[in-house]
Amino acid sequence: MGTIYVTDLEGEVHKLAVQSGGKLMEAIRDAGFPIEAICGGEGSCATCHVHVPPEWYDKLPKAEQTELDFVEVAMTYEPGMSRLSCQIQFNDSLEGLHIQLTEED
Ligand code: FES
Repeated sequence: MGTIYVTDLEGEVHKLAVQSGGKLMEAIRDAGFPIEAICGGEGSCATCHVHVPPEWYDKLPKAEQTELDFVEVAMTYEPGMSRLSCQIQFNDSLEGLHIQLTEED
């Protein structure tokens, strides 16, 4: 179990418990945030798009090309910040991770 911090669309920061090995999208959704995740975590819809501050972005596992293909067409795509939260599994190296919800959610 670990902790991440989620900034909502109003700029409020929330502390969230995350299972080791669990997808960030599932933790966000299960905590009741309005994240659509309409493909169920298959990486094919971009409705779980989040922004990751630059100081955390480089600590994430690299995105596969298929993830990049989807996230780059997201409405609020930001190079160097945009990821699909269903494609990121939490591990101890991400303890304290900060992410921001986006308008796609
Ligand atoms: S839930 Fe669809 S891309 Fe992440």
